[in-house]
Amino acid sequence: MINNISAILKDACEKLGYNPKEIVVSFSNIPTLCDYQSNFCFALAKELKMSPFAVAESIVKQIGENKEFNFVAAMPGYINVSLKDETFSKLANGLLADEKCGVKEHTKKLNVVMDYGGANIAKELHVGHLCSPIIGESLKRLYKLFGHNVISDAHLGDWGLQMGLTILQLHEDGYLDYYFTGKGTEPNITLDILNIAYPKASAKKSVDPEFKAKADAYTKHIQDKDEPYFTVYKKIRELSVKTIEGLYKELGATFDLWYGESSCDEYTDLVVDMFVKKGLARESDGALVVDVAREGEHIPIPKQNPDDEQLYKNPMPPAVIKKYNGGDLYATTDIATIYMRNKDYKNLDEILYCTDSRQKLHFEQVFRCCKMVGISPENQLLTHVGFGTMKGKDGKPFKTREGTTVKLDDVVNLLVEKSSEKLKSNGLEPTRDLALKIGIGAMKYGALSNFVTKDYVFDIDKFLSFDGKTGPYIQYMVARINSILDKADTKAGQIFVQDADEKNILIGILKLNLAYETCYKEKSLNSLCTAAFDLASAFSTFYNSHKILTEPDMAKKQSYLGLISLVKKALVQAMWTLGIDCPERM
Ligand code: ARG
Repeated sequence: MINNISAILKDACEKLGYNPKEIVVSFSNIPTLCDYQSNFCFALAKELKMSPFAVAESIVKQIGENKEFNFVAAMPGYINVSLKDETFSKLANGLLADEKCGVKEHTKKLNVVMDYGGANIAKELHVGHLCSPIIGESLKRLYKLFGHNVISDAHLGDWGLQMGLTILQLHEDGYLDYYFTGKGTEPNITLDILNIAYPKASAKKSVDPEFKAKADAYTKHIQDKDEPYFTVYKKIRELSVKTIEGLYKELGATFDLWYGESSCDEYTDLVVDMFVKKGLARESDGALVVDVAREGEHIPIPKQNPDDEQLYKNPMPPAVIKKYNGGDLYATTDIATIYMRNKDYKNLDEILYCTDSRQKLHFEQVFRCCKMVGISPENQLLTHVGFGTMKGKDGKPFKTREGTTVKLDDVVNLLVEKSSEKLKSNGLEPTRDLALKIGIGAMKYGALSNFVTKDYVFDIDKFLSFDGKTGPYIQYMVARINSILDKADTKAGQIFVQDADEKNILIGILKLNLAYETCYKEKSLNSLCTAAFDLASAFSTFYNSHKILTEPDMAKKQSYLGLISLVKKALVQAMWTLGIDCPERM
């Protein structure tokens, strides 16, 4: 629509000999007055030394009668555009017949790897791990909707110090004698055992340097695939992955690849060598570092004490690509993984990461390294989507009442429990599956409604409300449409758009379709959340003012049914993009 309107305006300007720099057409601020508006006459008037209104009038006069739109010049110099009823009707029937409800695929199809999820083996998943699978999954779906090829990789944290710490702790606690001495029987290492081992080791590491050095050595043994370290490691990885997979599935996040930091192992030495050979790496305290600072940025000088002022404005520390003991670091595996991805997939246009924003510097360093050494081709996009922190209602990082971190499966159970209560109070007897769909949907919508980089408040009661801007509200509207369509004694037919409520629905869908583009540009799903809610509300208004099932005029009834089918299709697609299922009934 916007393109059609701009083209007509441009054509009229050409005929008049006007040469506007830019014709921006946007949705109307006053929907009761018109559907679209443009204010380009103001800038144009300055050039033409005319009044903006006179310019607008001349353009409208030039356009004359148009088949699809009404153009009106409005004081002090706007051009207001309204769609004719037939235009709305044609649009509505076209959108309903269109597979993607009017969302146009991008002409250039990109090959993309998306790296999200990123759970760490051996560490229990907690509430902080919610955002990456949720945001990453919806970005993947958004890209797919636009026709791009996306490969998703869970990129598990399975190669770092936490592995050495966990195995050392298990060893000290006597669980690994079978592997280390060959005596006794094979132990049954359970999740519960792991969940105790890591936090215990992690706490010890901070106060006991000897323990930390030992854990470093264990980590190195794992990375060198020494036995029995590597066998134990593989067992722990397998056990953890099963649990992680189960949890991600409940969250609706699915992955093509279950790779991890360890998967690029065969390339780490090769990649480090590339930096050495090209003279890009230097030794620093036994470690190998790459200077990635550019002009105007500085390698920070460590502060003598915490109260000292930072010496430089733009600190950019070097990337450490080899540890003092030769072990791999987070940066090493990330650089080698980019190398591997480019080897595995030809012509990768973009690699996108979704982690919390505290990893911004890490990715900046990794990306710069890959560009410097030529691992990532010049025109390949390396994108880091960094999200904000989840806060409790008190504005502090979300914790249990006892002040400990909230475990992820506890969050899921809480969501199921609360949504069950809610559904029961609405007179339903929900299955776990239904309660899960509503609970997870509520939480996802709550998380995604926020602009991605901002911190947000995790407020289950607010998220689960059936009225207000929430996931369940939209799910509820879809369920209501389902029930009307079921009860109707006739099928959806040709849509005739006539009154303001109907037009409002169509505008809602056009705005929704524009929101997909905004989300793609911003790598944030909040605009889609808002637009889906606005469309659901427009449907609600229409529903309250129209008797659909008892409408005596058959053609009108069929038109109404067509219109609400369209709303359903558009809402279900938007919710799918957000990773939220819409249940048939609720
Ligand atoms: N495991 C990491 C963490 O817990 C996230 C992994 C993100 N992806 C990556 N390629 N670094 O912070």
